[in-house]
Amino acid sequence: MANAEFGTVFFSEMTLASFDGEKWSDASFVPSDRLPMHPAAHVLHYASTCFEGMKAFRANDGAINVFRIDDHIRRMQNSARSLYLPVPDAAQLKSMIIDVLKKFQDQVPVFPGSAYIRPTLIGTDPAIGRAAAPTRTALLYILVSPVGDYFAADAKMRVLLDTDNQRCAPHFGNVKSGGNYASALGLIQKAKEKYNTAQVIFAPNGDVQETGAANCLLINDTEILTKPLNSEFLPGVTRDSLLKAGAKLGYKVTERNISADELMEWIKTGEVALSGTAAVLAPVGEIVYKDETYAVNGGKEPVNAKRLRKYLNDVQQGLETDSFNWVTKI
Ligand code: PLP
Ligand code: COI
Repeated sequence: MANAEFGTVFFSEMTLASFDGEKWSDASFVPSDRLPMHPAAHVLHYASTCFEGMKAFRANDGAINVFRIDDHIRRMQNSARSLYLPVPDAAQLKSMIIDVLKKFQDQVPVFPGSAYIRPTLIGTDPAIGRAAAPTRTALLYILVSPVGDYFAADAKMRVLLDTDNQRCAPHFGNVKSGGNYASALGLIQKAKEKYNTAQVIFAPNGDVQETGAANCLLINDTEILTKPLNSEFLPGVTRDSLLKAGAKLGYKVTERNISADELMEWIKTGEVALSGTAAVLAPVGEIVYKDETYAVNGGKEPVNAKRLRKYLNDVQQGLETDSFNWVTKI
């Protein structure tokens, strides 16, 4: 597992419930390596899918700590509503997550590993005419993958600041849906080929939004700065956690729009880091902008990003007081 690619190893079973057009079935355990589905299933043609990504940690006391489970469930319900998918029942979804973690708790790795939990909801109507109509039936399942770091903990990422493109349709960025990732993939791939970058900060018309798989925070010794939430980008649970933790640690937290030019000015003396469940808080080392490469903060150690990342990881492992009630112990 430790050396496996992130998200390619799974608990052998998952919990699954189905929606028959009227109600959700009880959940049951099923093998996690197959899913019987009609080739015409709505999701395969019209991308009626949303998912979540949250983590469970092996705490110091041996318990399993799930991080901000209720917030992820709420966001999944919002995504389902946007896609006109049947909205999962919060209590049932929570039980499905906890039940599979309990059954396979021996396989939750020790830190810096964790169990990456991927609740997934898909539309299953076998109806290829339903391009502009919702699915009536759906499946909900909870895949869990023991993982290590998504970005190496000490990586100094090289990213492209792209002012020409938007990650996804502007009314849909706050929905955690596969289509948004499909829309960004080619842009991230082209940047990789051309500039050897690991990610893209999307800043359409100069408005700094987020990357393909994480939010974007500007950090220095006194302040954390990031764009206020809107429909154009994902309301990250990690982003929210870091803003709250940052305020507690004494940083001034500012949510306002940031222009690409301002970002480039900021990196002369400040840090930039990418926040997400998988990314945690990954410092950016270099930014490519208008074909030139710029070192972030003169290549200095990202001490503030590291401090915030450690605080969050300590809460997750039970090493720091859980002041905000973020942890559910199972
Ligand atoms: N933005 C995108 C596009 C993501 O895929 C993610 C990852 O989930 C995030 C932001 C961060 O969200 P969260 O902190 O809730 O994981
Ligand atoms: C997450 O951080 O949960 C994500 O969705 C990123 C994913 C692309 C691995």
